[in-house]
Amino acid sequence: MKRLDKIYLGTNTKMYKTIKDTVEFLEKLAGLTADIDRNLMELFVIPSFTTLYHAKKAAPERLIKLGAQNMCWEDEGQFTGEISPIMLKEIGVNIIEIGHSERRHVMGETDEIEKKKVSAALRHGFIPLLCIGETMEQKNYGISDEILRIQLKIGLSEITADQAKNVWIAYEPVWAIGVNGIPADEGYANEKHGVIKDTLISMFGREIGGDIPVLYGGSVNPQNALKLIKEENIDGLFIGRSAWQAENFNGIIRSVLPLFMEKKKREGVEKHG
Ligand code: PGA
Repeated sequence: MKRLDKIYLGTNTKMYKTIKDTVEFLEKLAGLTADIDRNLMELFVIPSFTTLYHAKKAAPERLIKLGAQNMCWEDEGQFTGEISPIMLKEIGVNIIEIGHSERRHVMGETDEIEKKKVSAALRHGFIPLLCIGETMEQKNYGISDEILRIQLKIGLSEITADQAKNVWIAYEPVWAIGVNGIPADEGYANEKHGVIKDTLISMFGREIGGDIPVLYGGSVNPQNALKLIKEENIDGLFIGRSAWQAENFNGIIRSVLPLFMEKKKREGVEKHG
């Protein structure tokens, strides 16, 4: 089965949920979605570091993949305050979120730093979820496409095509994220996903580059989720606030899944006549 035959749906809980909150959330989400065939959906949750040990026990991996919000590129050393790939491997997380807008724009991470993290994540067998996106200023200058290409070309510069088979990308325009964010409309998001896919194909070839999942994130809500998921280049959704209650997340999952399946069916008919 090709990677893009299934939908990718996940949430990063940022710095909001305690251990107790995270465990409750995961248990509830796993229960609510247990009946959904995981061949059709990749569901993932990325909570705070301090919760990961308990989170790992709260929901089976076959139902919900678990991710870390950040990771140091070194295995060990004099890096006070950092968490290494070995430590995350010990817990058993699947995904490493790299370069979220808040890491880049609040904590000052650069594309060169993200590049080292992507390589380290792949070396240790994790799925790197590389987040990219332009700021409003860059958008106003008309350089959004260039920015996305730069973030991809530097962030993924050290990896082989074979390694690229394990990469996921999230397109999250900085201006769309969080309480003050303006969600990107589906046409704009689809166009940028097209730029991202073309860049990935130019880097890794059609077969591998074209099969890298590209998720949209930034003020996804139950209404715009329906429009976004119908778009050709959008393979999934990376959701913040609207997914932090398990019932709400389950609601979005159930409403987008049939639309995604219809889209895949349409694409299949178009391809095979
Ligand atoms: P939001 O967060 O959906 O609350 O805007 C998205 C994100 O930061 O990934």
